[in-house]
Amino acid sequence: MKAYPFITKVNHIGVATKNYQETAAFYESVGYHEVVGGYDPNQNVYGYFYEAAGMPTIELLAPYDEKSPINKILEKNGVTPYHLCYEINCSIEDAIKEMKGDRFMVIAKPAHSDNLKGRVCFLFHKDVGIVELLEYEKV
Ligand code: NI
Repeated sequence: MKAYPFITKVNHIGVATKNYQETAAFYESVGYHEVVGGYDPNQNVYGYFYEAAGMPTIELLAPYDEKSPINKILEKNGVTPYHLCYEINCSIEDAIKEMKGDRFMVIAKPAHSDNLKGRVCFLFHKDVGIVELLEYEKV
């Protein structure tokens, strides 16, 4: 696999859950608090972000309805961490181009995320799993 210098840091870990409040109870018990969240129309899920000092940011994702893509993850694995989101310092299109050369497949096209104030996309690689890329929008 080639080098990906445009990937600069981990933004958050995505955790699939059926009931975000019940999963949140664990994170709250270790010092996390909710910072932002709500319905994400691009992914058709509820997404809630939790932060705690010295801990990685956690995104809890729960299905909105039976068509939510997260249902597949829950059916296969139950409640589980399932994606890492990386911040990039290039355009999301350039990053996708580079990573496709290493057999990453786009599973969700670039779309705006209100919660993250940027554009995100999802890629899958059989040896890596699901990777989310985040390009902050210039303001
Ligand atoms: Ni995410």
